[in-house]
Amino acid sequence: MFVPMVDLVAEYRRLREPIQKAIERVLESGRFILGPNVEALEAEIAAYINTRYAIGVASGTDALRLALMAVGVGQEDEVITTPFTFIATAEAISHLGAVPVFVDIDPRTYNLDPGQIRAKISKKTKAILPVHLYGQPADMDPILDLAREFGLKVIEDCAQAFGAEYKGKKVGSLGDAGALSFFPSKNLGGYGDGGMVLTNDEEVAARVRQLRDHGSEQKYVHVRLGFNSRLDELQAAILRVKLAEVDQNRRLRIEKAAEYNQRLAGKAVTPYKADFALHVYNQYTVRVRGRRSEIQEALRAKGIATAVHYPIPVHKQQVYRGLNYADEDLPESLAASQQVLSLPIFPDMTLEQIAYVCQSLEEWL
Ligand SMILES: Cc1ncc(COP(=O)(O)O)c(C=O)c1O
Repeated sequence: MFVPMVDLVAEYRRLREPIQKAIERVLESGRFILGPNVEALEAEIAAYINTRYAIGVASGTDALRLALMAVGVGQEDEVITTPFTFIATAEAISHLGAVPVFVDIDPRTYNLDPGQIRAKISKKTKAILPVHLYGQPADMDPILDLAREFGLKVIEDCAQAFGAEYKGKKVGSLGDAGALSFFPSKNLGGYGDGGMVLTNDEEVAARVRQLRDHGSEQKYVHVRLGFNSRLDELQAAILRVKLAEVDQNRRLRIEKAAEYNQRLAGKAVTPYKADFALHVYNQYTVRVRGRRSEIQEALRAKGIATAVHYPIPVHKQQVYRGLNYADEDLPESLAASQQVLSLPIFPDMTLEQIAYVCQSLEEWL
């Protein structure tokens, strides 16, 4: 049996007709950049997440970068974030001339440990950037409390957590701004790159709208230094088709995770779900103590794909060596990077596939 990490082809085959029609309509319209589909998708996602504004941009990385810029993060500001994330989170901070300040994770949720943030707040701290890793919300209330106490901005990295909820509220609606990624493997993924900034703040929304389009207020009138970071009509049209089934897919992912949990109980360290969380399982990540690459190899030999998100925490990446973090500074992030293993999960996954993955894993263990 072959079990990929995600099966985007199976999904496409199921949605072939509406997607082909949506693409055809865009091609026939002759409008490819910031047209009616982008506008409609922005309105639909703002309504879904429950924010006043949603602004389509070229990627999740740009969504983070533009959101940080729009809330005023700049040269030499410090932004507190997690080192246990995809590099883009820190990259977005560094590209503004700001400095990522890493705080360790809660080893159960793999998200920022709010209890360790206060000690890292300095006069230069401008914002906190929690990541809702694997689809589980970070513990936002203590983060928002600290932000209020110290006058900091909060930007949520929701790249892996479309549709996740914290105490009944969708992530992306809790901080000053949220960043979505439409990378194909995300819970709402396009057929290429794309992203979106979410906010309730009219000024932040207006700034992001300018920044994504060369800093322009209106065509050929440029009020600030901006970028070319726009969402394509084709991607928006495809994403609108997929948005219609995002809740069903969220339910299917939760069901697959429950099936895994039941089968692996007592045999592997299954994902912990916090009480406050509606976890949407963009990744189903277990923890193994040692011999991870051997497990991966054994599963690969049986046709099962696995992945490690992420094998090197950001503070140990070559690009961030200059920040001089020692191993003992962020021990939980380092331990997680050595032990996590993501198993295949996607809405179209069959129960037989899950059983096969679990059996194969059990045999090895
Ligand atoms: C946590 C996290 N942040 C940011 C990004 C960047 O998103 P994109 O690839 O759309 O630029 C990703 C995914 O790729 C991610 O997983």
